[in-house]
Amino acid sequence: MHTTDATPLIRARGLSRTYDQGGIAQHVLRDADLDVAAGEQVALIGRSGSGKSTLLNLLAGIDRPDAGSILIGDVALHALDETARTRFRRTHIGFVYQFFNLIPTLTAVENAALPLELTGTPRRRALRRAREDLATLGLAARADAIPDQLSGGERQRVAVARALIHAPTLVLADEPTGNLDVAIGRQVLAQLQGLCRERGTTLVTVTHSGEVAAGADRVLTLEAGRLRETGEVQTW
Ligand SMILES: Nc1ncnc2c1ncn2[C@@H]1O[C@H](COP(=O)(O)OP(=O)(O)OP(=O)(O)O)[C@@H](O)[C@H]1O
Ligand SMILES: [Mg+2]
Repeated sequence: MHTTDATPLIRARGLSRTYDQGGIAQHVLRDADLDVAAGEQVALIGRSGSGKSTLLNLLAGIDRPDAGSILIGDVALHALDETARTRFRRTHIGFVYQFFNLIPTLTAVENAALPLELTGTPRRRALRRAREDLATLGLAARADAIPDQLSGGERQRVAVARALIHAPTLVLADEPTGNLDVAIGRQVLAQLQGLCRERGTTLVTVTHSGEVAAGADRVLTLEAGRLRETGEVQTW
């Protein structure tokens, strides 16, 4: 079990994010703080619309807070411009989405290799590494299939390979089992958590599943725009 006494990887302070919804300001995050230790696995829960995806997008540098600071390691993400954030994300972040987000015209191995290619690894080497990682995930025989030819669980394992291939510091998963049946979801999640443990990769998973939350080192609830430690796990 990792504690926040260990080296912090994420240190966010006073995060606010407001959306304009037809002239009405919706305060999704209000002065939220977050600390995650290096190597820690955190589950993030909260009602639909509470701002979980919004928060992940801030941590990924996809979006920017209206106020507050986000340190990832020693990088002040909130202070970077879009180009620098994109570069940061490509190098340091892996993302797993509920609906896989694979590129439909690329094969499994090409999808998994993309983050390596984007950071400058020559294509042949990237594809070789992707093939090895897919094999680790039990997908050696499906490596040349396109997403349409894969089951949901297989697609999500390709997405896991893609999230980890460039050895990111931080993996962000937004309801990674939300679109899978329970047994398959459990397998994929065990693989994601296991690989992150093995590699010391920090993992933040948004989930509605009590099971996912139970497998994490720590559970945080997002409520009324702020994060709090959850004693008892509640799910929606
Ligand atoms: N680009 C946007 N423009 C306006 N409002 C937005 C935008 N993105 C999100 N919102 C609003 O912000 C709130 C939080 O959305 P968010 O997607 O972060 O919630 P969530 O906790 O991930 O919900 P779910 O569990 O349903 O995925 C919602 O009320 C949503 O409608
Ligand atoms: Mg969401």
